[in-house]
Amino acid sequence: MSLFGVADIGTYSIKTLIGELDNGVISLVGVGKSDSEGVRNGRIIKPQQAGNSLSEATRRAEEMASENLKSLYLGVGGKLLDFTTNEATISITSKDRIVGQNDINRLMDLAGSIDVGTQKRIISTIPQDFRLDGQEGVSNPLGLQGRRLDMTATLVTINEKSMKNYRDTASRAGLKLAGILPTPVCLGDLLLTEEEYRRGKLILDFGMGKTELIVFKQGQLVDSRSFSPGGKNLTKDLAAKFNITPEEAREVKHEVDLSVLAGKEVSTDNSLGEYTNGGKLDREKVLSVLSARLKEIIEMIFSEVRQLGHDNLLSYGIKVTGGNARLRGLMGFFNDHFEPEFEIGRPKRKIIGIEDVVENPIYGNVLALLSSCAKRTEVSKQLDGRASKSSSLLSRVIQKMRAISLPNIGRDR
Ligand SMILES: Nc1ncnc2c1ncn2[C@@H]1O[C@H](COP(=O)(O)OP(=O)(O)OP(=O)(O)O)[C@@H](O)[C@H]1O
Ligand SMILES: [Mg+2]
Repeated sequence: MSLFGVADIGTYSIKTLIGELDNGVISLVGVGKSDSEGVRNGRIIKPQQAGNSLSEATRRAEEMASENLKSLYLGVGGKLLDFTTNEATISITSKDRIVGQNDINRLMDLAGSIDVGTQKRIISTIPQDFRLDGQEGVSNPLGLQGRRLDMTATLVTINEKSMKNYRDTASRAGLKLAGILPTPVCLGDLLLTEEEYRRGKLILDFGMGKTELIVFKQGQLVDSRSFSPGGKNLTKDLAAKFNITPEEAREVKHEVDLSVLAGKEVSTDNSLGEYTNGGKLDREKVLSVLSARLKEIIEMIFSEVRQLGHDNLLSYGIKVTGGNARLRGLMGFFNDHFEPEFEIGRPKRKIIGIEDVVENPIYGNVLALLSSCAKRTEVSKQLDGRASKSSSLLSRVIQKMRAISLPNIGRDR
């Protein structure tokens, strides 16, 4: 049984999960959340403060799990990551010319050994495509015979300054940084079906400080863009329009139901509570403020999708995750106002334990990190215990997972 910890450093909150992997099943055994300090628009700006918040979230998760973590993985959003493509080629030198795992490892190392400068660090090397003796479209060359093996890989990099902020944040919380995980890649892994992954799909992470557009096409992440309007703007709009405090505005935002706008629910009481401005809020006016901002955010996303040349993916719909996906009636509202179909992104991999968390999109990012970590642990454990016959089917599948899933993530260079 393996135990591991992951955390998502958000602008609204920091979430720590502790998971256990037993016979391929992930159990969620600890959950902790704390208000986030020292983070702006998804970026750590004050590691000491962020570290205190991480410590609080982790302590809660540890209490629930009755376990102590020494180290944990932190997720990083697309805004701080760069994705570049690299090609690598090796000769298969063994007598029988059969591609072995050591050949694939060599190729991976070669692909990931480009000079990214002193200011950047490679956190992940993801193979996209292999070619054996010039033959394209080889998804897994292990066990095949050939003389020359080429690979196209995506390298995920982070700048040293951001890396230091993550390390300092973990250290302030009394934890060792086990590694950095690219959250957008992990989200695709958790929320997309095989077919969606292959064909292409858009994911929207609707957080507080930012809204992130993540684009998958032909089995790979091709774009990840972050926009500064997020949940905070919905709150700010309400506070400014009705002259109420941000806390009150957030409460109102969490209470109203956007289904009313689609005529699906008729509210008899059109007013909302008493507020510091001394008055009551008109529900219709509240909804119209939210509606205007939500439409603006989605129009902005669509325009970016078109500009990036991914128009065709709009017809496949959009999966939404992040805390704002919890706005009541949001999917119905989007589906009434926009052509593409919107749905809440649900984990495609079974995670047992705390249903409220597994089903809650506010935990979407951190669950994706948990699932990716489990996959890594699972693969390395299976590799350790595998039968020595490297040509067995099981071995091939495992080797393929090792090569394809999350190689090198968190590896220090
Ligand atoms: N029940 C709810 N109904 C509506 N909105 C909610 C609800 N719960 C949380 N939110 C909103 O979700 C947002 C927080 O989402 P999330 O936790 O995904 O953000 P974050 O990861 O901390 O921030 P970011 O990703 O932008 O750095 C806030 O704007 C909050 O108001
Ligand atoms: Mg977030």
